[in-house]
Amino acid sequence: MKVLLIGSGGREHALAWKLAQSPRLTALYAAPGNPGIAEEAIIADIDTADNDAVLAFCRGQAIDFVVVGPEAPLVAGLADTLRNAGIAVFGPSAAAAQLEGSKGFTKDICAKYNIPTGAYQRFTSAEPAKAYIRAQGAPIVIKADGLAAGKGVTVAMSLDEALGAVDSCFSGVFGAAGAEVVVEAYLDGEEASFFCLCDGKTALALASAQDHKRVGDGDTGPNTGGMGAYSPAPVMTPEMVARTMREIIEPTISGMADSGHPFTGVLFAGLMITAKGPELIEYNVRFGDPECQVLMMRLKSDLLPLLYAAATGTLASVTAEWRDDAALTVVMASKGYPGTYEKNTPIASLPESTTEAKVFHAGTALKNGQLVATGGRVLNVTAMGSTVSAAKDTAYAALDRVEWDNGFCRRDIGWQAVEREKA
Ligand code: AMP
Ligand code: GLY
Repeated sequence: MKVLLIGSGGREHALAWKLAQSPRLTALYAAPGNPGIAEEAIIADIDTADNDAVLAFCRGQAIDFVVVGPEAPLVAGLADTLRNAGIAVFGPSAAAAQLEGSKGFTKDICAKYNIPTGAYQRFTSAEPAKAYIRAQGAPIVIKADGLAAGKGVTVAMSLDEALGAVDSCFSGVFGAAGAEVVVEAYLDGEEASFFCLCDGKTALALASAQDHKRVGDGDTGPNTGGMGAYSPAPVMTPEMVARTMREIIEPTISGMADSGHPFTGVLFAGLMITAKGPELIEYNVRFGDPECQVLMMRLKSDLLPLLYAAATGTLASVTAEWRDDAALTVVMASKGYPGTYEKNTPIASLPESTTEAKVFHAGTALKNGQLVATGGRVLNVTAMGSTVSAAKDTAYAALDRVEWDNGFCRRDIGWQAVEREKA
């Protein structure tokens, strides 16, 4: 099978690495790609924001299957363009991608199908939102409706902060994404990331993971795209997985099908495990980054037939097998991230990959033969171990061999699981 992978982050490097191991693969292309992905795939020079250009490439190269990594091309209808042209594609239609593209859309699906989530209201102007917030009190959560690169959410611990977040959304800092605001009840508990492959009617649960969103040790400081992750997430016991499937995932899949927008691809549920059980914080319509990196390290099965089954409505006929070992990834980011940071700083040296440790590239480029950091999140140092603690030790030992002066990382990725393992 000839496959084209869309994306250029650590998530796509992990997907490329895993797809490249498939005996069913005949050629792997990637766009835009990065230097890590280039070790696994042929980098194709395509403007991935231009759906017709992607389609023309697929026709020219006789691509059988397209795997879309990030949400932006999905929300922009890339999967529709390809599917309408008869090309198999892993990823939802633009209509189904609203599960990530519009928080209000998802909240309405939850209300309609009785899916547990925080109580909420949608607003298109500031004053009614503020009145609702004053009536509810803090803590409370304010969200820009649309895609805001992970920055559109304020978990307000005080009324002033909540009212300020409403003003900031409607002031236009998030552009069109902030034209509508969702105000939501604060949920208290432990977070987990839960992933399912979906083919429109069937959902196949993948392994769980836990992400560390805050930039600083001890889960402090501003939110980021994720500073590290590990799998499995101990809070996702088999019972919690079964409840999540029954109470959240299955009603969503059947609800989307009933409303004429069947969901295919990977459904990523951000969950809060509260005293009442699993509640939905949000959906994403793609793999988590960096959660995907730990899932790919743990996946024993061939990835390609799993993704292809999701794309072609045959998920009921496949299963996924996982290594019992834990995986943990630490993100190395450019100093200053998630604020401003210097670009093109040299990465002098990376540790060799071993069977237990691997560095995935997220924001890197080659400039005149020198590997440089071009993004905020730059490298994902990922390792396996018999426990999360063991995986953590191996990951940090590899990370300490990275020679990159402008990089930083958290030193406590996995702390909740490590504490549980000590207990
Ligand atoms: P989101 O972009 O929706 O994933 O939100 C970013 C982060 O904000 C989440 O990972 C949570 O840590 C937090 N968050 C979002 N919604 C809530 C909520 N209703 N209650 C508590 N924390 C939340
Ligand atoms: N790591 C969280 C995300 O990918 O949205």
